[in-house]
Amino acid sequence: MTTTLTKGMIQEAADYIRSKSSVTPKLGLILGSGLGVLAEHIDDAVSIAYQDIPYFPQSTVEGHAGELLIGSVQGTPVVLMKGRFHMYEGYGPELTAFPVRVMKALGVSRLLVTNAAGGINTSYEPGDLMLISDHINMTGRNPLVGPNDPELGARFPDMSEAYSRKLREIARQVAYEKDIPLQEGVYVGLLGPSYETPAEIRMFRTLGADAVGMSTVSEVIVARHAGIEVLGISCISNMAAGILDQPLSHEEVIETTDRVREKFLNLVLGIIPKL
Ligand code: HPA
Repeated sequence: MTTTLTKGMIQEAADYIRSKSSVTPKLGLILGSGLGVLAEHIDDAVSIAYQDIPYFPQSTVEGHAGELLIGSVQGTPVVLMKGRFHMYEGYGPELTAFPVRVMKALGVSRLLVTNAAGGINTSYEPGDLMLISDHINMTGRNPLVGPNDPELGARFPDMSEAYSRKLREIARQVAYEKDIPLQEGVYVGLLGPSYETPAEIRMFRTLGADAVGMSTVSEVIVARHAGIEVLGISCISNMAAGILDQPLSHEEVIETTDRVREKFLNLVLGIIPKL
């Protein structure tokens, strides 16, 4: 089922947020599982619970707090989602990406998305950071299905540079200056919530994927529809199914993201002032 999210609903949510903070954010941040640490580095942060924002879904997953923070990071005005919405929670793709529409209405022109992902590329290791060069949408869903409002974006938006070349160059430069190793690869987005089978992972490797996760793709599709430039960073939290002789668990995902917290923070705090 597709929920039609109108301009009026987007405006109502944006108006509510504006009533709580006078900051006009130019950068949006979406933080994945265990990567919420950045939230502690927002100056003069105003926190708004998702449940208070009109039409916002609720996040239901452990390790994903549900709050929107507005403030500034090293002088850059930001709006940050601590915890996101996933299709496996039962939300349609348009709902998982609704906050991106609201960010656009608030004034955001660039978006940094982060996630925890399983490593498919066998040269990766848990704890690696990966710049997302492109994605493969394997969710079988698209958040733009349904009537198109041309004021929000084109009917058939271009996805040939979903993850900005220019922003990736900035991220690589910051990583180099800070001596932080950074992989770069293709993220395949799936519906979840079960992890993949080893056969599926072999298939995705053959198809050109380097990392796998259950988020991000619908947010990025909506961001591109809205003309927002995107930078994506995955934290490789585990090797994908079948690569190591051990089962996958959400605990491992959280443990690894905890372990790389400082490295991740250091990289992202270096990138933000340049966005
Ligand atoms: N598969 C899918 N999603 C994930 C994984 C994985 O191995 N790790 C973290 N998110």
